[in-house]
Formats: sequence, structure tokens, C-alpha cells
Amino acid sequence: MGNKMTRRSFLKNATFGTLGSIGAAYGGYYYAHDIEPYWLTIKRDSVESERLPDEFNNFKIVQITDTHLGFQLTLEDMKKIVRKVNQESPDLIVFTGDLFDNPSHIGQSSYNDLISILSNLKAKHGQYWIYGNHDHGGYGTDPIKEVMNQGGFSLLQNDYDNINLNGSQILLAGVDDVLLGDPRLNQLIPDDKSDTFNILLCHEPDYADEVKDYNFDLQLSGHSHGGQVQIPFYGYIITPLLGQKYVEGKTTIGERPLHLLTSRGLGTTRLPFRFLCRPEINVITLNAT
Ligand SMILES: [Fe+2]
Repeated sequence: MGNKMTRRSFLKNATFGTLGSIGAAYGGYYYAHDIEPYWLTIKRDSVESERLPDEFNNFKIVQITDTHLGFQLTLEDMKKIVRKVNQESPDLIVFTGDLFDNPSHIGQSSYNDLISILSNLKAKHGQYWIYGNHDHGGYGTDPIKEVMNQGGFSLLQNDYDNINLNGSQILLAGVDDVLLGDPRLNQLIPDDKSDTFNILLCHEPDYADEVKDYNFDLQLSGHSHGGQVQIPFYGYIITPLLGQKYVEGKTTIGERPLHLLTSRGLGTTRLPFRFLCRPEINVITLNAT
């Protein structure tokens, strides 16, 4: 008897084939919606510079960014992030913008809860932050400033601070959000600091093409979410304005040179999915050469 497909076996194969496809689609949805967005990684990078004073060799900066609380991540997730950051015993903690996805939807009790969560973060040389576009959006400029301030973070809005260690100094600057703020790069480095090791916090990574001309050695950015969903052989699915060229990872540009690190960030926006683009906390170790 031949291997002729009967009507019944055809229907059976077709049914299982369809169910298999639905199952695979649902599995993909479940993974990208319920698993990967919460599957935190610690991304470690080192940056070498001849301008870094020896005293700062092995200085450890922990960067968190783009939590977009209220869209997919919750305050419970933020507690987990804070625990992981503290486990790293950072010398310095920086937050590079987009705390809530839409500040206009957030009530005072959530702000109060977040203040007590952020207050648990500890770094030897303090905690600093800058505005992202979602912080200025949704009338967030003032309330977010209050939350971060009470949570123990110093705002760098077109401003800088000196970080001192055993008689040596590096400079940490922050520029206002490029898309919705008023960025002023030209007022960030005093003339006598043009040859020290200078760090810039800047929400949008692609602004590095301007920053490279301003005596900075290191730029820490977020904003791009690493594309959030990465499709093999296709690329990034979500890339916002000024987060389309330097979408993730470490790049070196300009003559000084400027080292740029773009974090994939922690939260999501627009679509509650991550795929092949796990959320990350960034640990950056500085090395003197
Ligand atoms: Fe963001």
C-alpha cells in the first residue's frame, strides 16, 4: 500500500501544524513579554585613558538608565535593581534619564515609595543624574527633580562637579536632555580642566558626534534601549531619534578620543517587549594607562 495521504491524515497534519505555529508564536510572545524584559544582566566595560590620574585606577561607575517605570517595570523591579547595584560596591552611581515612562500618570504615593527605594543606593562618591526626554515630557521636569533629589541624587543639568580622590580630581558633567531640554555643551568644562579626565552624562547617544569636539573622554548614554527588539539578520526594531547611530555598546570616536558607552537600559517603551536585547546595569571600570 502506498503512502497516500488520506483526507483525515491531511486534516490531522494541518491541525497540528497550525497549533504548532500558534504555540511557537505564543511562546515567542510569552518570552519577549514576560521573561526577557525582567532578565537583568550586568554589562561590564573598562575604559582606559592616559588622562586618568593613577588614584582613579579601577574606579567603578555603575550606570542605570531608562527604567520607564509605570510602563512595564514596577517599583518592585526597581527594588531588585537597587539591590544589584549595591552588590557592585560602586564608587559612583549615575542615572542617565527616563525614570518614568509618563510622569503625568504617576501619583504622589508612587513618588514617595520611589524616594525610599532610591535612598537605599549607596556609592562612595555619590549619586548623580541627568534628564531624559521622558522626564521632561508629561510635565515631569519638576516632580522628577524632587524625587531624585530626595532619593539622594544630584542633578547635572548643564552643570558639573569635581570628583576628588586622594588629592586628584576628575570632572563629571551632565548636559540637559537634547530632544526636550536646553543642552549647553559649551559651558561644561572650565578652561583649566580641558586636559583632565572629563566624563559627560548625556541621555541621547548620537549627540556624541557633537560632544567629541568638547574635551570629553567618556560619554555615558542610554535612550536607545539597544533597539529593544533585535531580529537576527534584520536588526533593531525600535530606535528613537538620536539613538539610531550608536545604538548599544562601546564606541570610540574623535581625535581626543571620546569613548562612548550606550546602555541598553532597564525598561521598555512603546512596546512592552524585549527580544535578544536583555535589560542591563552597566559597570564601567576606569583604568589609567
Ligand atoms: Fe528611554
